[in-house]
Amino acid sequence: MCGIIGFTGRREAAPILLEGLRRLEYRGYDSSGIATGTGRQLHIRKKAGRLQALQRLIAEYPAAGCYGIGHTRWATHGGATDRNAHPHTDQTGLIAVVHNGVIENYLALRQQLQSQGVIFRSETDTEVLAHLIAHYYHGDLVSAVRQALQLVRGTYGLAVVSRQEPGLIVAARWGSPLVVGQGTEGRYLASDTNALSGWVEKVHYLEDGQICVLTEQEWDVLDQRLASVPFVLQELPSDLNDGQADKGEYPHFMLKEIYEQPEALTNAMRGRLHEADATAHFGGLNLTAAQLRQVERIIITGCGTSYYAGLVGEYLIEDLARLPVEVEYASELRYRHPPIDPQTILLAITQSGETADTLAALREANRRGQTTLAICNVVGSSIAREAHGGVYLHAGPEIGVASTKAFTAQCLVLTLLALYLGRLRHLSVSQGQRILRELQALPEAVRQALQCHDSVKTLAEKYSHATNMLYLGRQYLYPVALEGALKLKEISYIHAEGYPAAEMKHGPIALVDEQTPSVFLVPSGPVFDKVLANMQEIKARGGPIIAITSGNEAEVAAIADDVIAVPAVAEYLQPIVTVIPLQLLAYEMALLRGCDVDRPRNLAKSVTVE
Ligand code: F6R
Repeated sequence: MCGIIGFTGRREAAPILLEGLRRLEYRGYDSSGIATGTGRQLHIRKKAGRLQALQRLIAEYPAAGCYGIGHTRWATHGGATDRNAHPHTDQTGLIAVVHNGVIENYLALRQQLQSQGVIFRSETDTEVLAHLIAHYYHGDLVSAVRQALQLVRGTYGLAVVSRQEPGLIVAARWGSPLVVGQGTEGRYLASDTNALSGWVEKVHYLEDGQICVLTEQEWDVLDQRLASVPFVLQELPSDLNDGQADKGEYPHFMLKEIYEQPEALTNAMRGRLHEADATAHFGGLNLTAAQLRQVERIIITGCGTSYYAGLVGEYLIEDLARLPVEVEYASELRYRHPPIDPQTILLAITQSGETADTLAALREANRRGQTTLAICNVVGSSIAREAHGGVYLHAGPEIGVASTKAFTAQCLVLTLLALYLGRLRHLSVSQGQRILRELQALPEAVRQALQCHDSVKTLAEKYSHATNMLYLGRQYLYPVALEGALKLKEISYIHAEGYPAAEMKHGPIALVDEQTPSVFLVPSGPVFDKVLANMQEIKARGGPIIAITSGNEAEVAAIADDVIAVPAVAEYLQPIVTVIPLQLLAYEMALLRGCDVDRPRNLAKSVTVE
């Protein structure tokens, strides 16, 4: 949510800033802008809309200079306009600021500054920072930033330049991520490591309260009293350097990431399946087997798609490990006071590792002394660093705003965790061995499921004019129904609701008519007949039925209007295989409706505000 980039060095900054913004655009695309500096002059270029608009502006009015900052915006305060685009400046153009986060007390600060005669030009919360820093500026940007930040309540990752101190960038973090790194041609800062691939090999992740001072010659990390603290340089995650962050031959990141799933699942399993003791092993849980045997309850938390993976996890851990699990939206959990005993573990699930609500829920649990674990994709992200232990997905960078391969990798890692916990408790060796065999066959089953793409295209042509859709599933496939509905609404803007298939009789069935298709998830196994009965209830009311099934196709086809077959896998793996046609359906429907698949309106990949 909002991307920040900065460079100071021996090259023209603008092309680097624009490339960095291109890589960060998935964090927000309401507007973008840069500030570069030459001599004692700052050159501000900013524009509402996609990055191309800024690129065109800069082609016409170049921004010279070997240092600068850039920003791609996901609007919080104030609409997506040129004026609200970052960088923001003070009245004299002395200071330019880019900011990710929310200044919660901005109204009070704004009124105070206005009473001193300051005239505001935007509706953003960020603009107060520019005026405040300018107010405290007496030739020392670091100290002005520090004084201004003492008045601020809220969250920020920010970068500031002053025309009086050419080549200097001051960055600060509280709650919104920032990384800094050194390359051969200069020093860089960014909201996440994606932006820095190929430019730096190692990064320092700023901690909350740290300020970083960067020039071409030197850099320093300071605490809130401006005392130097040591850099902790870490390797850039290796998956950033092997081309995975590019679209390759695919028209969209989303499609590429859907097709990467067999490989992402293989990577998530690599080195973790142990035949000898018929279980899964993890390097980073930081809990001994004895400690894990003491666990009596798990609270899973996350947002959006990651929350839905958590719901799958609830079935998995209850089934395989016989442990009670609760799943709670992080945005709710962070403000609740659930009774917690020492035997309860909090498990945060997140692709980015930066989602503000999930991070806050984790921090609250840490504060209470609870043991916390994270399942996370982005190496070195805030949640990965702050949890006591955890498991990386190793799914590779996920750039498409709609999560696909992270979801299936999350479900897989939850399966491995459930297997591990189960084997510590009651699962027999032969049960463990059976699960390992089924897991090993999973990537191939997903590869086969992807072969439904052509049939899904035909389906999308038939239904792309729908304005409402229902997604219905039971047991393990109930969370998948929620995820299918989310995928469709977020990228095609068709209203969709996910529901437990039998529960729709208690209300949503009133929505059913000839124009409202229902997507039924019909697994082979114990609930097959039950779901067929639910399909009959919709058919009796004239609703079109699309069925995704791993069961007897002929029986399903006798009721459904359209059937997509997916390979039959063990019940606990069905979510991973069944979600594939739903991802493709959302993708194809969005394309037919002319939607921007990788950058759906109003969304951003990493939601770093509450
Ligand atoms: C939907 C989607 C979002 C994210 C949610 C949590 O396709 O991507 O719902 O799942 O914003 O993000 P992470 O997993 O990064 O915490």
